[in-house]
Amino acid sequence: MIRAIVRKGIFHHGDEFVGFMEGWRGVLEDLTLPLQLKTVAGILPRGGTILRTSRTNPAKKEHGLQQCIVNLDKHGVDALIAIGGDDTQSVSLKLYERGVKVVAVPKTIDNDLSGTDFCFGFDTAVSVATEAIDRVHTTAEAHNRVIVVEVMGRDAGWIALYSGVAGGADVILIPERPFDIAEVAESLKRRHDRGIYFSIVVVAEGAKLAKGSGVISETTKTDEFGHVRLGGIANVLAAEIERRTGFETRAVILGHILRGGTPTAFDRMLATRYGVGAIDLVHQGRFGQMVALKGTEITSVPIADAVAKTRCVTQELIDVALSLVDSSEQAVPSH
Ligand code: F6P
Repeated sequence: MIRAIVRKGIFHHGDEFVGFMEGWRGVLEDLTLPLQLKTVAGILPRGGTILRTSRTNPAKKEHGLQQCIVNLDKHGVDALIAIGGDDTQSVSLKLYERGVKVVAVPKTIDNDLSGTDFCFGFDTAVSVATEAIDRVHTTAEAHNRVIVVEVMGRDAGWIALYSGVAGGADVILIPERPFDIAEVAESLKRRHDRGIYFSIVVVAEGAKLAKGSGVISETTKTDEFGHVRLGGIANVLAAEIERRTGFETRAVILGHILRGGTPTAFDRMLATRYGVGAIDLVHQGRFGQMVALKGTEITSVPIADAVAKTRCVTQELIDVALSLVDSSEQAVPSH
């Protein structure tokens, strides 16, 4: 993405670039990296970002947004391209409302920004999760075990649903469909009654109990955007499944493994198209917009719309998952 932005900007518009390090912290504290052709050479297969990142929220610091504007002015920034998910883009929107010329690019494995079909990073995370599910199948089957695989995704079940379907999971639990642990245990028992002595349960880190009081995580710590640090529901679920069914059950928490390694070809292509789309928006003077993929076309949507609400898994995808199993062994809670 950064490579595409810099190359199109320099080759076709004679632009100059400065990168701000560590997300909004760099804009707030004036941490910069000159971005030239040589800076972006060879980064296509690299995961993460050469600019690094952080969960800094300038809106939470005294005069933070104003300080960002001062630092942007100091570097003579004519346009700011902000790459990130809903937290990043919520700050983009605030700066845009204060007169900064911002263009946004949707990059999050959670795939939960509204107005776009796919966010950059999602496909890579799904590929890694699917491969992991394929691998744990071996142990589940060989040892007659239930294995609960936890994937990231915050409040959306995109990674869980995609990797769960692609990896042939028997139960998929997503935040959009609060679940009943008794039903999960019963459906696993019915599967065993049919003579299949192993099962794979994929659970999104943000999945919730139907009769619970919110997310199940190992910590209640929050970040600067007010989000609880998720992770750990698989451990709780595995213990409860074992207790209720008597089947030996293990938990595998994939966590940050999903955010590492080399991006898929799909993500590289998407990032390149988004990068080119972002620089085009800048030169068309269309600020306050986020590049987006709609069907097969690159388009744009107002940042305000993109961050207005979490984009949840669609009913059509849930129906696909449900179509693959006997209705007594529902892969995704249907209500
Ligand atoms: O938003 C992306 C994401 O990977 C979520 O899926 C996950 O809950 C969170 O970030 C983890 O954040 P951190 O690396 O700060 O713990």
